[in-house]
Amino acid sequence: MNSARDGIDKILFSKEEIQLRVEELGRQITKDFAEEDLVVVGILKGAGIFMCDLIREIDMPVRIDFMAVSSYGNAKESSGEIRIIKDLQQDVRGSVVLLVEDIVETGLTLSYLKEMMAERGAKDVRICTLLDKPEKRKKEVQIDYCGFTVGDVFIVGYGIDYAKHYRNLPYIAALKQD
Ligand code: PRP
Repeated sequence: MNSARDGIDKILFSKEEIQLRVEELGRQITKDFAEEDLVVVGILKGAGIFMCDLIREIDMPVRIDFMAVSSYGNAKESSGEIRIIKDLQQDVRGSVVLLVEDIVETGLTLSYLKEMMAERGAKDVRICTLLDKPEKRKKEVQIDYCGFTVGDVFIVGYGIDYAKHYRNLPYIAALKQD
């Protein structure tokens, strides 16, 4: 019988470790934005699970929204141009936007979205990512909140896929290389 964990090499961050770190991030965000009109924006699909856990650790009134994006054809690597599949359903003018990602690699997606939010009149745009893979960076982007920094290994679980699978693993794991 197939299992959700077929192909997994090893667990990098357990369910419990993730939970503790998400609680810490939520506490910090609550403290930092207590006086602000905060819109928390999850970037689908990868950030969906992290977003749902994180917002329940933010103890203040917030608005939430989601965007879905994909790279523009094959041009993402060179231009960083991103296609919007699903846009926000609310105005962010004058609000602080917190973009929530599962992982930052080249930094192209978030640089693009950050600029887009600023152009739409957000008062400030901040970034929270569960994972940061700095070795892959092509464009510098300021990460304000980061769960864990990882090396250049293929990661799956807790929202992150490989060939559309593994998003439902409750932990973050490295995939077998073969
Ligand atoms: C992943 C991740 C970020 C982006 C990061 O999304 O969720 O959105 O790539 O990469 P970058 O820093 O190199 O731009 P992906 O395109 O895999 O889509 P998904 O979230 O639907 O899995």
